[in-house]
Amino acid sequence: MPKVLIATEKPFAAEAVQLIKAELDKAGYPHAWLENYTDPKDLHAAVADAEALIIRSDIVDEAVFNAAPDLKIVVRAGAGYDNIDLKAATAHNVVAMNTPGQNSNAVAELALAMMIYMARGKFNGKSGTELSGKKLVLYGFGFVARYLAKMAKGVGMEVFAYDPYLSAEIMTKEGVTALHSVEEIFKTGDYISLHIPATAETKKSINWDLLGLVKPACILINTARKEVIDEESLLKAFAEKKKFRYVSDIEPEKHAQLMELYADRYYCTPKKMGAQTEEANINAGVAAARQIVAFFEKGDKTYKVN
Ligand code: 3PG
Repeated sequence: MPKVLIATEKPFAAEAVQLIKAELDKAGYPHAWLENYTDPKDLHAAVADAEALIIRSDIVDEAVFNAAPDLKIVVRAGAGYDNIDLKAATAHNVVAMNTPGQNSNAVAELALAMMIYMARGKFNGKSGTELSGKKLVLYGFGFVARYLAKMAKGVGMEVFAYDPYLSAEIMTKEGVTALHSVEEIFKTGDYISLHIPATAETKKSINWDLLGLVKPACILINTARKEVIDEESLLKAFAEKKKFRYVSDIEPEKHAQLMELYADRYYCTPKKMGAQTEEANINAGVAAARQIVAFFEKGDKTYKVN
């Protein structure tokens, strides 16, 4: 039976670990666990005899594939797979998959919490503002954005979205007003929430051309990827727009500088914690285990991304 390695620098919740184990035990697949590791060499050693690998944001690059001669499949228990070198996976005949949608509600809930936290001045005891009646723009309209749209409407926000890969009809069907350009996003939002992946096209794409357009008191929420922001432009936005705020679930390169200069208008979670709920860990982890079993038993390649 194929051996599965679960390698998570940031471990799944204990409840999820039990359920992933149960899923693999039911299929009769042996499994090994590498949690909280800090040295990639530990991953290289652990993956040496694995035929399947489950990861989260763990880096799976050429060196990992070289260390894993038997590997047939790697599943990213989560949505974004920018941490997997897809070209190397293909070159090594390894199928790469993600588990889309499985942790999205958790990320959306965190985005909503972050919006309230910033609107209320990081709970500093002073008078803040309300979300109700404000305009939220979602940049990207995948699973997380759709959950967030429903939540935001629940608190009385007006919700807009733009996604270069989706038609306006899809947004209208979800009860959201479609915008038609990236510029419109940045001009329209009192709150702008990012839901785009980190790709060659999107990296550093949120630059001064866009940030220069935002309303003076705009709150920018990033539960996506730090790489999509041009951090020099972010600093300029803080300097030029005295009420601009930025809240992120992924630590920017310039975190220390932002804390020093703009701690009242900037916040970043101590660890990337959007998907850190029992429920999200169970959904994504169990889905990953099931996808591995379906791949070996039936050749099922649904959710293949390479
Ligand atoms: C994802 O892409 O699914 C999220 O960014 C969650 O990442 P994590 O599993 O590292 O928390």
